Amino acid sequence: MKYKALLLALSLAATATAQRHETVLDEGWMFSRDKAQWENVRVPHDWAINGPFDKKWDLQVVAIEQNGEKEKTEKSGRSGSLPWIGEGHYKTTIRIPKSCKHAELVFDGAMSEPTVSVNGRRAGYWAYGYNAFKVDITPYVKTGDNTVEVDLNNVEESSRWYPGGGIYRPVTLVVTEDEARFETFETFAYTAKADRKLAEMKVTAKVAGNLNDGTMGVNIALYDQKGFIVAESHCNMTGTGDISTVLDVKKPQLWSPESPYLYKLVTKLYRDRKLIDRQTVNVGIRTATVTKEGGFQLNGQTRKFKGVCLHHDLGPLGAAINKAALIRQIKMMKAMGCDAIRTAHNMPSKMQMDICDSLGMMVMAESFDMWKYAKCKNGYARFFDEWGDRDIENLVKNHRNHPSIVMWSIGNEIPEQGMKGGKDIARRLQDLCHRLDPSRTVTQGMDRVDNAMHTGFAQVMDVPGFNYRLHKYEKGLKELPQGFLLGSETASTVSSRGVYKFPVEVSNKKTYADGQCNGYDTECCPWSNLPDDDWRWQDDYKQVIGEFVWTGYDYLGEPTPYDEYWPSRSSYFGICDLAGLPKDRYYLYRSKWNTKEHTVHLLPHWTWPDRKGKVTPVYCYTDGVEGELFVNGKSQGRVRKNKEGRLNRYRLRWNDVKYEPGEIRVVAYDAAGNKIGEDVKRTAGAPAELILTAEYADDNRKALTADGDDMAFVTVSLADKDGNFCPTADDELTFEVTGTGTYQAACNGDATSLEPFNGTQMKLFAGRLVVVVRSTKTPGIMTLKVTDKKRKLQKTIDIRTV
Ligand code: GAL
Repeated sequence: MKYKALLLALSLAATATAQRHETVLDEGWMFSRDKAQWENVRVPHDWAINGPFDKKWDLQVVAIEQNGEKEKTEKSGRSGSLPWIGEGHYKTTIRIPKSCKHAELVFDGAMSEPTVSVNGRRAGYWAYGYNAFKVDITPYVKTGDNTVEVDLNNVEESSRWYPGGGIYRPVTLVVTEDEARFETFETFAYTAKADRKLAEMKVTAKVAGNLNDGTMGVNIALYDQKGFIVAESHCNMTGTGDISTVLDVKKPQLWSPESPYLYKLVTKLYRDRKLIDRQTVNVGIRTATVTKEGGFQLNGQTRKFKGVCLHHDLGPLGAAINKAALIRQIKMMKAMGCDAIRTAHNMPSKMQMDICDSLGMMVMAESFDMWKYAKCKNGYARFFDEWGDRDIENLVKNHRNHPSIVMWSIGNEIPEQGMKGGKDIARRLQDLCHRLDPSRTVTQGMDRVDNAMHTGFAQVMDVPGFNYRLHKYEKGLKELPQGFLLGSETASTVSSRGVYKFPVEVSNKKTYADGQCNGYDTECCPWSNLPDDDWRWQDDYKQVIGEFVWTGYDYLGEPTPYDEYWPSRSSYFGICDLAGLPKDRYYLYRSKWNTKEHTVHLLPHWTWPDRKGKVTPVYCYTDGVEGELFVNGKSQGRVRKNKEGRLNRYRLRWNDVKYEPGEIRVVAYDAAGNKIGEDVKRTAGAPAELILTAEYADDNRKALTADGDDMAFVTVSLADKDGNFCPTADDELTFEVTGTGTYQAACNGDATSLEPFNGTQMKLFAGRLVVVVRSTKTPGIMTLKVTDKKRKLQKTIDIRTV
């Protein structure tokens, strides 16, 4: 019997007559803006990110309705002041093997309105630049070389932020060698129930193509991380090729941000016992529910979202996605204690979702910034009627296997929330999500809360999401039938990393001559608020199920409060700046969200030659409840967190400190009076040394993969002769990379900088900048050399590529 089974296994392996070939098309692309001049590029590619920055690219005369504006004024930098508008063209050659029976291209997103042609014939089109889509190219290909062309078109005033331009996410060629195959986007596994003892996973899939020739069979198996099969099913297929089964998993390892355990689901398709197709998908076992009684529960445990909203750009890399850059983002957020991201306001990339699955980050996956009613002249409203449902379908089908995604969002601040018929669209889109995925709840971010409640729009949603509008939370909780609400978008506090303004004032409309915002985290917009305001609601109301802060990182475009100021081309909302460097606000959120490690962080910096004797408030962000501040060893008294006033509950503040050079030191204490930590800031002398520190996607290996894609992020700063960080240095530095790597970009986080990201020189901003270097396919060593010509300083760092 055993022998027979072995023979069968061998014969199955040996007689696998057909195979699936999935090839990521990253190399060998040509790109042109005008079809006259072509250049070689690697995909993912963003044609606009290297500028030059110019006000003329996206100058607009508009009233921003969302911000309550009535009069039109001239706005610059709203979409990044980069040349993303216009056409772009790509072409490449793909090889189709003789054995090919079916070929398709799967695009994870192309900006925008991609038309795909094969051998000169139009094969497919998709309107929305953010969505994944597949194109069946079988009718257009021949054995051997085939030309694929992708034509893109970005129209002006089609976005409220920088969308990028180009094939900015991966493209995969899928070739199968039998008439029958598993259909792309149709294999779906979800957890129907799960506890520590048993999980029930429902699996559906669809086989397309010729099902009538011979006996078809499907085997579905779930593998744990050690490679053991933990559940298996041999299924029959309906005449339409639909497959459906239930896998029982004993003692499942449940997925969570703290323990992101992934299984592999392997689906195999047989014809007359011969293997003809095989797919592998990462899946996780977990439940995610929202109820009046329990609020949001992951695996039955109530928790509040400690979330951030993220736009899709990666700062100096633009929209072109990169695994190392995405890992860096998610890790930094996790270290802050953040456990969720909202993909504002569009479909995420598969690469980002894979990373969230494996690193442990929950996701609210969003779809639209508008439906029928346009928020900007040429926005998605042009397409909604024809494409809205198809876009939701591809969002859900493409991403529903990711355990990280715990909720869908059908929109952000949709104007229809206060209009007749809006409620019906909301219901339709939500029902569609449920039909395609019975396992997740649906939300959307509402800003006109009164209108939305009046029209019944808010009542329709599984999860009512409030954007800001804290003063409406009470009413929402009292009147909404759901019995809970989510802070789908919160804060919109503005600050510039390492920049401090005096006197320190709480304000919702402050601007300064230098185009920066105050690093004391006391400024926001007329419609928004400070982190402290959100936390009162999160802490005092059980029915408020968490928040998604606007935003985790600064992004290109939307330079509020400097929409009418030039130059300014990127946001001030980020907890981290555009270079990915933490602002002080990072430590404010960390003090609240990271419950595993202590936070003790002092601000501002202490190098103020012009402020001798002037009042210079000192803040400490800490999870401790009390702290004592010393200026040059002299106590400024103990301060304890308290509920009086707007800023005292979550920050320790010494508002009357007079500046004198030297050092400030804080000692922080927990509620029991135990010391939990200290922080010190010292006055810096003249810069004497360049400091270079590299961040890698893989912290343990401290090297890059020699694959042409991997990146390291090198933070550069200046220190004085005693090693003190020089916080106001703005020296211009130059960069050179030699060896087995290339220079990719630099970014200093200054929203008013017009220095191109790919130029090999840039000024430090508030003492820091980040240089991004990229591996080649050659293993060895690359060297980054940084030069400060003014001070005759130079430093190199070696980075291994393996
Ligand atoms: C919100 C909007 C976001 C962003 C933010 C800035 O109302 O949803 O996309 O514009 O304001 O505060």
